[in-house]
Amino acid sequence: MSERILLVDDDHNLLLAMQRVLGAKYDLALAPGGEQALERLARDAPYAVLITDLRMPGMDGITLLEQAQRVSPDTVRIVLSGYGDLDQVMQAINEGYIFRFLTKPATPQQLEKTIQAALEQHQRVLAARETHSLKRLKEALENVVLGFTRLVEARDPYTAGHQERVCQLAVALSQGLGLSEDQVACVRLAALIHDLGKVYVPSEFLNRPGRLTQAEMGIIRTHPQVGCEIMRPLDFQWPMSQIVLQHHERLDGSGYPQGLKGEGILLEARIIAVADVVEAMSSHRPYRPSRGLQGALREIGDQRGCLYDPVVVDACLELFQGQGWRFERQDQWQEQ
Ligand SMILES: [Fe+2]
Ligand SMILES: [Fe+2]
Repeated sequence: MSERILLVDDDHNLLLAMQRVLGAKYDLALAPGGEQALERLARDAPYAVLITDLRMPGMDGITLLEQAQRVSPDTVRIVLSGYGDLDQVMQAINEGYIFRFLTKPATPQQLEKTIQAALEQHQRVLAARETHSLKRLKEALENVVLGFTRLVEARDPYTAGHQERVCQLAVALSQGLGLSEDQVACVRLAALIHDLGKVYVPSEFLNRPGRLTQAEMGIIRTHPQVGCEIMRPLDFQWPMSQIVLQHHERLDGSGYPQGLKGEGILLEARIIAVADVVEAMSSHRPYRPSRGLQGALREIGDQRGCLYDPVVVDACLELFQGQGWRFERQDQWQEQ
């Protein structure tokens, strides 16, 4: 759909002449005065451009521009007026009401060139607004995720500390693999929340020493699906719920819940899977001793290309063994 332009002038003949010149190319609406123009701005679908005379009976152009800025702030405003209105034009410019000023009579070429520039400006205004909205949404998502991690922490400090450390390693792996800034941001949030579904699991199952029954294991194994269901409404920017769902999938199809294989598993989930297992194995849990960092690295090396993505495993070994990377928060449960 072409963008709409509103022409405002008390000179009926001028409006008709403009319509003849521009009507074939643009979606034009005409208004004989400020009041009618303001009504249209408030009532109709948004206008990309407003072109107005200044001296008009009733509401003058300056008042219209001022009101238009309030009613339809994204509409790009242009004045088409005589030289005699210079004081008013200066006021309009100084108040920031207008994008361009054209003097009467304007040639069709001048009009078209100015309208083209105004339409491009309108696109820039919309793009800036969209970027701003997206930024606000991302901030909101981040706050929701941080809220969820606090919720997990209040209930189960082991899982909370685990998610935080998995997040550190998953981010370092993503950066090492050359993922874009946007993908790294996604991995960071997904890792921070990957075990959210454990809020559904009775905490005595999670941290109890000794073996769990089949039924108890079955309940623990629902946590990717539960986390996915909680996160699904927040998938406006990234497939967070799918990453959470897939973090226990394994390359050879032996994982759960869907038994996905190879590249059928999202890269972000393959990264988090490696970070998850390294962190879990190198940390002490009430129900089993730590295998130490070296044991964890041996495990992912042994299962390279079988359970875990070989590229991610290589990046992980390089990170720890080549670059001496370590988890930031070493605590009492972790061994080297
Ligand atoms: Fe998990
Ligand atoms: Fe985990």
